[in-house]
Amino acid sequence: MQTRLLGRTKQQVTQLGYGSMGLRGPATWGVRVVDESSADRMLNSVLDAGINFIDTAPDYGISEERIGRYLRRRRDDFLLATKCGCDPLQHEDHLEIRHTWTRQRIRTNLEESLRRLQTDMIDLLQFHGGDADTLQNEGLIDLLLEFRERGLIRWLGISSSLPNLPKLLQLDVFDTVQLPWSCLDPRHAPLMDQAAEQGLGVIVRGGIAQGGPDAEIQRPLLNQVWEQAGLDDFLSSGMSRAELLLRCTLSRTSCHTTIVGTCNPEHLRENLRAAEHGPLPASVLQEIEDRVSKVQKGKATS
Ligand SMILES: NC(=O)c1ccc[n+]([C@@H]2O[C@H](COP(=O)([O-])OP(=O)(O)OC[C@H]3O[C@@H](n4cnc5c(N)ncnc54)[C@H](OP(=O)(O)O)[C@@H]3O)[C@@H](O)[C@H]2O)c1
Repeated sequence: MQTRLLGRTKQQVTQLGYGSMGLRGPATWGVRVVDESSADRMLNSVLDAGINFIDTAPDYGISEERIGRYLRRRRDDFLLATKCGCDPLQHEDHLEIRHTWTRQRIRTNLEESLRRLQTDMIDLLQFHGGDADTLQNEGLIDLLLEFRERGLIRWLGISSSLPNLPKLLQLDVFDTVQLPWSCLDPRHAPLMDQAAEQGLGVIVRGGIAQGGPDAEIQRPLLNQVWEQAGLDDFLSSGMSRAELLLRCTLSRTSCHTTIVGTCNPEHLRENLRAAEHGPLPASVLQEIEDRVSKVQKGKATS
């Protein structure tokens, strides 16, 4: 499995990571619920395959609890990233996602995450959104630095996107950044490259474009980009659309790890095979990016 240096953390991480949002359980959101034994098998298969980076959040229902329950004995085998600023409200039938930017909320997040994850230290604590002014003025960055001093976390990061991301990168205090990128939605490409140049570890989410045109949960807008850019032209023999999408992301040198979410063991195997096949030739990636860019320019002017 290909590894990359995760920026300032100086850790080697597998370029294929795991995003555990799909393990969020009942009464949250979305259409699928994964049962306990499947969650157990999935998390352990991820580690058995050699993946060493797992992302979660208090916002993902019982995902943290499951990681604690099923992986606590393997805690040294992977880097554990979770988030803070989360203030989810559980209703009878769904989970309402809310964010609160106070020191008290961040303290509570950390205490609860440590308990649910059954660990005494979180490798990477990421602000789940937030803007630079609030995080600074409320003393929240200082609080994370204090957690680090006390050995409760090892690194601090930000999980963000436009429009907040440029100013957050200017602060230059984070060890990592998590942002969305796929060849079907490449808006954050310049920020991704900038973050890597600044020395941050870059964690890409949405790196398989939510599964692409063959996904169980369909994303019509992304599928439209695939079709209009004619990306079927790039499928070599035996290559699935998901493989092409994932290998595009793995081809970007500024992507240190991509936390692909799957709850389907066959998809995990497919993604591992794609990662084994490695980056695409630079000319192929360039042509895909050019075609998608043309589609987007067409959309912007129409
Ligand atoms: N703001 C934030 O901080 C934020 C926001 C969103 C997500 N995240 C993190 O990023 C992770 C990934 O985000 P994401 O779920 O939006 O993006 P993603 O990883 O691009 O997409 C996940 C979807 O792709 C499908 N999939 C995976 N492999 C596939 C394959 N080989 N063939 C077909 N479908 C496949 C999965 O369905 P199957 O289960 O059917 O495989 C799942 O529905 C999350 O788990 C979470 O950790 C963070």
